[in-house]
Amino acid sequence: MRIEINTERLLARIEALGRIGALPGGGCKRLALSAEDAAGRALVTGWFCDLELDVHTDVIGNCWAIRSGHKDLPPLVMGSHIDTVATGGLYDGVLGVLGGLEVIESVIDAVIETEHPLAVAFFTNEEGARFAPDMMGSGVSQGALDLEEMLAKVGIDGVSVADALDGIGARGREPVSALAPCAYLELHIEQGPVLEAEGTEIGVVTGVQGISWTEFAIAGRSAHAGTTPMALRQDAGAVAAGIAIEARAIARDFGSPQVATVGRMRFAPDIVNVVPEEAVLTVDLRHTDDAVLQAAETRLFDTAEALASDEGCTITRRSLARFEPVSFDPDLVGQIAEGAKRLGLSHRRMPSGAGHDAQMFAPNCPAAMIFVPSKDGISHNIHEYTAPHDLANGVRLLAEVALARAGV
Ligand code: GLV
Ligand code: MN
Ligand code: MN
Ligand code: MN
Repeated sequence: MRIEINTERLLARIEALGRIGALPGGGCKRLALSAEDAAGRALVTGWFCDLELDVHTDVIGNCWAIRSGHKDLPPLVMGSHIDTVATGGLYDGVLGVLGGLEVIESVIDAVIETEHPLAVAFFTNEEGARFAPDMMGSGVSQGALDLEEMLAKVGIDGVSVADALDGIGARGREPVSALAPCAYLELHIEQGPVLEAEGTEIGVVTGVQGISWTEFAIAGRSAHAGTTPMALRQDAGAVAAGIAIEARAIARDFGSPQVATVGRMRFAPDIVNVVPEEAVLTVDLRHTDDAVLQAAETRLFDTAEALASDEGCTITRRSLARFEPVSFDPDLVGQIAEGAKRLGLSHRRMPSGAGHDAQMFAPNCPAAMIFVPSKDGISHNIHEYTAPHDLANGVRLLAEVALARAGV
């Protein structure tokens, strides 16, 4: 069964949500559980309520809205996240949530009853930009992450997840396990250059690569930059710089698809003429093969120890996030490819380089994702953009697969 979606309504909602936390020059900042996130949550749940959906919020702030089906069956869930990184765009996560909402509203407009309930959800702290790990809400809801441990996590601003949830009134009453879908579908922008470069309209996502986030803290001794001979230094900054260079060398030596990123680095006392006494940096390593990812971690950790020891510094490391690669459900992936074919949309199978809530569902229920092109392949950047016809293609395909799966 095919339904008409309302592209104008979808675009208006994306723009309205994008005005919350809007940044000069475009994009937005709605860090998880911030005041901006609270305003975004209020706007989206208001739209859920306008459609008289059954809205539930769980104890880690995941929110989902259900339109009942005519059979007593588990829901088909469409979802993603509405939190952003500090330099976020308008589409990352938002498309999966507002696209799911558009599917449900279009189904209501068409007066269609589905067998399974249809649900749309947004999950707390997908980005991990304020609190690590990322995919926190979906991970807790699917039993991959421990609720109490996550509530105790402290963000980059020193606030705990529990306090931040209460601070914006986002802590609900539902137990986290309440959401047990028959299948999970996530529409997302690609966030990379492949679809645009090929002129392909749809990415049929086969899985998500493994993610390893590590924070290193190095302790040395601060000293005068002019008077301290090089051989007598315990330079924490030099060790951190060496680790950053090693991360790049690992990516180069292992080759694609190995990627490595040092996204944060800070020194103390952070003064031009003082040898740093402390350095803290993060390394993000990703690979589709967990054995290779483990080899990359081992090389990085061993080199970090050696660099610190050569410099007379001490080093500690802690894991901020570690997720194994995930393969999506082959039947659901096939259904997405078939749906794209029926809609006349060009498509290709591809893995996801970014982490997504869908990977948390994959061990528990059939889960899969649809990608649409990102202009210039950029995301986590205020200039992130996907053209309206691409957004609409993605939502049409989401509707096609959701209706086939939910049964009409
Ligand atoms: C989250 O979006 C990530 O992939 O880092
Ligand atoms: Mn996202
Ligand atoms: Mn993101
Ligand atoms: Mn993500």
